[in-house]
Amino acid sequence: MPNTTTPAFRIAPSLLSADFARLGDELKAVIAAGADWIHFDVMDNHYVPNLTFGPMICQALKPHAKKADGTAVPIDVHLMVQPVDALAAAFADAGADLISFHPDASGHVHRSVQAIKAKGCKAGLAFNPAASLDVLDWVIDDIDLILIMSVNPGFGGQSFIDSALRKIEQARKRIDASGKDIRLEVDGGIKTDNIRRVADAGADTFVAGSAIFGKPDYKAVIDAMRAALGAS
Ligand code: DX5
Ligand code: ZN
Repeated sequence: MPNTTTPAFRIAPSLLSADFARLGDELKAVIAAGADWIHFDVMDNHYVPNLTFGPMICQALKPHAKKADGTAVPIDVHLMVQPVDALAAAFADAGADLISFHPDASGHVHRSVQAIKAKGCKAGLAFNPAASLDVLDWVIDDIDLILIMSVNPGFGGQSFIDSALRKIEQARKRIDASGKDIRLEVDGGIKTDNIRRVADAGADTFVAGSAIFGKPDYKAVIDAMRAALGAS
């Protein structure tokens, strides 16, 4: 059964666009501004041509990933790494709440999903712009999250690729047919002026990096996104 206490839509700011010299302060600021999840982009300079942060940074941030009232804010780890399993386990140990990986980066997708869940984390699959959703025929009952990439992974600040909308629609149909409580997250090029279209296609969780950290007032951006979604 869907948990009726969770919000209909979640905003997940990506720390990729934060000021890395002030990462802890940036985390606190974006949580104070209303972040529902914290999106943590892990790049290995192998699966993608960029290198970001590892489990030690996640572990250092974890104690600060909470609201003023002490409620934990989930850390949503997006692995853009190959191979998957060792780093997934390290992030689980470092406090990740959700861990997503790209199925084409794992030799054994079902095994990687089970390994993440065995660590007590929620498991997600991430799909590049040209990747098919077919693997979901076999693992949708095992996962908690589908992450549709609306840019090619590796960098923040890219433009939204419109074909992602069709893929979101397809993913939504698969989720509805499964009857499972699965989040549908979209990642890349999300702004206040396109978030509504993405929600209309069926997404319920929105990663935003440059749109939020590129502006001086994080709360104003998150509030504007919620207003565009028709959520308060
Ligand atoms: C790209 C990352 C995204 C990125 C999105 O590989 O997965 O999470 O931070 O950045 P924006 O919102 O700037 O497109
Ligand atoms: Zn991401």
